[in-house]
Amino acid sequence: MSDTTKLIIDTDPGVDDAMAIFYAAAAPDIELLGLTSIFGNVTVEMATRNALRLVEAAGLDIPVAAGANTPMALPPYTPSFHVHGDEGFGDIPAETPKGAAIDESAADFLCRMAREHKGELVLCPIGPLTNVAMAIQQDPEFAQNVKRIVLMGGSYREGGNITPYAEANIYHDPHAAEVVFASGARIEMVGLDVTHRITCKPDDFEAIAQASPRLGGMLQDMSHFYLKFYATVGKLDGCSLHDPAAVIACTHPHLFTAEDVAIEVTCEGEEIGATVQSAPDRGVTSVYTAVEAAAVKDLFLQRLTVLD
Ligand code: BDR
Ligand code: CA
Repeated sequence: MSDTTKLIIDTDPGVDDAMAIFYAAAAPDIELLGLTSIFGNVTVEMATRNALRLVEAAGLDIPVAAGANTPMALPPYTPSFHVHGDEGFGDIPAETPKGAAIDESAADFLCRMAREHKGELVLCPIGPLTNVAMAIQQDPEFAQNVKRIVLMGGSYREGGNITPYAEANIYHDPHAAEVVFASGARIEMVGLDVTHRITCKPDDFEAIAQASPRLGGMLQDMSHFYLKFYATVGKLDGCSLHDPAAVIACTHPHLFTAEDVAIEVTCEGEEIGATVQSAPDRGVTSVYTAVEAAAVKDLFLQRLTVLD
C-alpha cells in the first residue's frame, strides 16, 4: 500500500464535498482514513450526518469525527443553504444514517492520526479551517506531523465567490485560516484560480449516473440544485468542481502549476477573508495558479463512472 496516499478529508457536505468523497472512495491511489466534519455549507450536525451518510452509501468502514460548530472569533453565521440545499444535498431529503460519529472530537482525531501516521498523513480540508486551526493550537507538533495540507479555499488572482475578495471556506473562518497559513505546515492552496477552470455540466452527471446508477445517480440528483445556483450566478458554464479538485491535487499535483507565496488572511474590514501575499516572514504556501483542467475533469469522470 506504499504508493497510496493516506488521506483524511475535513468536510462540510455539501454537494461538491459529496463528489470529492465519492471520488476518494473510488480512487485506487487513496487510502481514506476518516472524515472530520465542520460547519459551513450546513450546520456541523448536518455535516456529521451527511458525512456518515456518504460513508455508508459508499460502503466505507471509516470513522467520522464531529468538528466545530462556530468560527473561532466571528459570530455564528447562516449556512449556505441557497448553494447546497436545505439539508446539504440539493433537493435530496435528509436521511438518518445507521452509524454515529466516534467519541473523539475532530481536532483530537486529527492530532492523533497525524501522530500515528507521522510524515505520511495528507489532510485535505474542503470546508472552513476551524478544526485544522484547533489541531494546530492543541498540538505543537501537529503542523510538522502532517505530510501535506492540501486545502480547497482561497483565491490569489481570481477574486472571491462569496464577496468580491473572499472565497467561501476562508471567509467563514478567516481567523482559523490565518492560524493555518502561519503554522509552518506544508500547505497547498487549491483555490478559485484553478477550481473555476474545472466545470461539469448536466451531461457529465448524466454520464456518471448512467455508468454508476446508485452512487452516480445520487450525485446527479444532488447536482440539479447546485447547477441551478451556478446558473443564477451566471459566471461559469456549469458548476465548479471545487472540492474534487483538492482531493485530486493530493495524488496528482503534477496536473497543476503552483507558485510559492507567503499567504496571509485579511481578518477585518471590507476585504475580510481575502488570501493575500504577506511579508516573507512565514513559510511559503504552494498556491495553485493554473491547472490542466481537461485532465483533472477526465480523471474525475473516469473514476466516478466505476463507483457502483
Ligand atoms: C467551497 O465552498 C463550499 O460551498 C464548497 O463546498 C467548497 O468547499 C467553494 O468556495
Ligand atoms: Ca466544501
